[in-house]
Amino acid sequence: MSNQNQNVDDQPVAYDDAPAADQHEAYDEAGVLEGGDVAIFDDGQDDYEFAEAASNARPVPRISIQCFCETPDTAEAIQIAAEDRRLAKAHVSVHMGGAQAAVAHYQESPTPNLIIIESTLEGDELLYQLDGLAECCDAGTKVLVIGALNDVLLYRELLRRGVSEYLVAPMSPLQLMEGVSNLYNDPETDPVGNTVAFIGAKGGVGSSTICHNVAWTMSELMNTEVVIADLDLAFGTTGLDFNQDPVQGIAEALASPERLDDQLLDRLLTRCTDRLSIFAAPVILDRDYDISPDGCEMVIDIVRQNVPDVVVDLPNSWSDWSKRILTQADEVVITASPDLANLRNAKNIVDLLKASRTNDGPPHLVLNMANMPKRPEIGVKEFCQSLDLDASAVIEFDSEHFGQAANNGQMIEELSKKAKAVQAFHTLSALIMHRKESVIQAPSSSSGLGPLLKKLKLSK
Ligand SMILES: Nc1ncnc2c1ncn2[C@@H]1O[C@H](COP(=O)(O)OP(=O)(O)OP(=O)(O)O)[C@@H](O)[C@H]1O
Ligand SMILES: [Mg+2]
Repeated sequence: MSNQNQNVDDQPVAYDDAPAADQHEAYDEAGVLEGGDVAIFDDGQDDYEFAEAASNARPVPRISIQCFCETPDTAEAIQIAAEDRRLAKAHVSVHMGGAQAAVAHYQESPTPNLIIIESTLEGDELLYQLDGLAECCDAGTKVLVIGALNDVLLYRELLRRGVSEYLVAPMSPLQLMEGVSNLYNDPETDPVGNTVAFIGAKGGVGSSTICHNVAWTMSELMNTEVVIADLDLAFGTTGLDFNQDPVQGIAEALASPERLDDQLLDRLLTRCTDRLSIFAAPVILDRDYDISPDGCEMVIDIVRQNVPDVVVDLPNSWSDWSKRILTQADEVVITASPDLANLRNAKNIVDLLKASRTNDGPPHLVLNMANMPKRPEIGVKEFCQSLDLDASAVIEFDSEHFGQAANNGQMIEELSKKAKAVQAFHTLSALIMHRKESVIQAPSSSSGLGPLLKKLKLSK
């Protein structure tokens, strides 16, 4: 963060608050945004007078940002920033109640990519309050604090405790945008996104189905934007599974990876839900697909710079590029069916990954299509012992739900919340994202903050 000291020591940048006047209408008396707890803002608000001065603020990736303010002024500044084109891709929600409301909320819900907390407390009281928040923060969540005190010692102490940035109130929308933008556009920092690679131990074992359902679960229940990259270029099923028929997709990106930038990526992705997009395979056979490991890595890196979670659906074939993806991914999920060929192949993949990823955890093993009627199977215990790996999930053969969902272009949970596999998808999502399963919420249109805000008398 190049401008760390600048933020605390400089005077706040003055801005013309004319546009803010319009925003007042968006608040109720308590300063909470009307029309639901979560506000997702559109593009097209780039003509404020202060916008020209915002040269240091760069577009922010598709991250989720939840803000807990104490003062209406800060909530208003965030609201204006959220409507700026630089934050157009981010999902921003603004709530009142400060750190106290945030702690209560995150005890039951997953934390987003970035939490913005306003606190009017100072010194040890502020640190104590933030320690409480840190206890319920998931790994990978950044925290930006807006405080009352312009004190460099406090600032350093906050950074030491893992706070990503500290801004002093009153703060302009421009300062906020810069603060957030710096967290995600610093060339010194890693790309924003994690990659999760899914591979089957054998063809047809359900790897893609599990990949798509887990990606959907992550996006619906974990407050995160997900892109599924379908690298089964000739036979991929991502489009079918999400009932989409895109004309362009990942093949265009792989054909000339050096051309891929944020704008082209936007055009090549197909949006399926509010938080899930697919980078679909062309599924055309009269083309040759020459994928190079470097090209593939470049494409995935660009997606990672834009989206917090990239889920890669690998075909069941072995190549230099699929091996590269598996060894480089943050998490690997191997799906196997409980028979001998699957066991042998899974063992080979597990051994290779253990040898090449010595500082990472083991891959996640999913035993799929277990208990298929009349089929002799290797027992779960025996299968796992042979691999020296616990199964992260065991999913039963369930042709009724899986067959119906595939035919409808739906996810299992969309088809039936009662299907047994739903719990397995929740468990896998939580494991992959290193989240506590207890904080996973049932999908709903509201943020889940409603009852809390009501209790605090901050919502109508
Ligand atoms: N637990 C299950 N019970 C019943 N059917 C299932 C189950 N899991 C997946 N299937 C079905 O198995 C078929 C193959 O699944 P999928 O295409 O996901 O496998 P894959 O491993 O990705 O195959 P490929 O090797 O072609 O990539 C699909 O029709 C899917 O609906
Ligand atoms: Mg597949």
